[in-house]
Amino acid sequence: MSIMNSINTDFITDTGVTVTPTTVHIGAEIGGVDLRKPLTGDQVTVIRQALNQWKVVFFRNQPLDHQQHINFGRQFGDPTVAHVVFGSDGKYPEIYPITKHRTSFASRPAATRIWTDWHTDITAAVNPPFGSILRAVTIPPYGGDTQWTNMAAAYRALSPTMQSFLGTLRAIHRFKRADSGKDAQAYNEKVNNKALISEHPLVTVHPETGEYCLYTNSEFVQEIVGLTKAESDLLLNYLWEHCIRPEFTVRFHWQADSIAFWDNRSTQHLAIRDVYDTDFDRELYRVTLNGERPIGVDGKPSKSLSGQPIGTIKKP
Ligand code: SIN
Repeated sequence: MSIMNSINTDFITDTGVTVTPTTVHIGAEIGGVDLRKPLTGDQVTVIRQALNQWKVVFFRNQPLDHQQHINFGRQFGDPTVAHVVFGSDGKYPEIYPITKHRTSFASRPAATRIWTDWHTDITAAVNPPFGSILRAVTIPPYGGDTQWTNMAAAYRALSPTMQSFLGTLRAIHRFKRADSGKDAQAYNEKVNNKALISEHPLVTVHPETGEYCLYTNSEFVQEIVGLTKAESDLLLNYLWEHCIRPEFTVRFHWQADSIAFWDNRSTQHLAIRDVYDTDFDRELYRVTLNGERPIGVDGKPSKSLSGQPIGTIKKP
């Protein structure tokens, strides 16, 4: 199967799937495929190649229901439980609702902290999901976009000296506590009950592309092992700012039936919170695909300090 470069920016494969990059470093829109139907092996290969290259791929006009969403995900990996800490809904245990007020998921405490900061999904686990697939159902007429950043590009932009130093370091990832809000206590109880804490390398090797990726995010990482608090805070704050330089990022404007599929091994993402300044609703659903332990540039894997690896949901 070949990929033909037709008009420089648009790749049409002989499967009929089109891959149109959205920025230089990250993001591509994929067309010519109906995700409600089972994909051919070649279509899966093209989408996976696009994901590896562009880190996040977007699809438009894909009116999937929950089951079709899960089936789409299964062609790329094993779905995890909806959320390892907040649990799942009985009928579709793989589906995690991401709604403005988080009302549609009984076991998930209401949003005491309005969504999250820049992050990679569930890096408190020793085997964070490798991929996440988010499907839009209710979308505001404007606002409520999502951004992703390419952590391999961010790594490549550092000096060789900084790259070597970071390659020797590891950091601790855990859930933040909620400090205020009416449901803070319930939220903290859930997080404490699971007590997921892991030590990951600060630079990981992507298992499919071999790229070196910065592996840190301000939502889950609190300290770098072996540095003083002042050293660790300064370095982390520098890296978090560096990672989200505009040229490493893409911003996606959702429509109903849009889908974003991203690689958690090489990206961070951010749900922009402007929608909280409006009365607009926003409702999306996510399926995450099980991942392996990240591996550092020294060949050493991540280590669990507390809690169990994330499990999968087998096909019934
Ligand atoms: C997520 O953080 O996984 C969801 C991002 C979003 O709601 O845009």
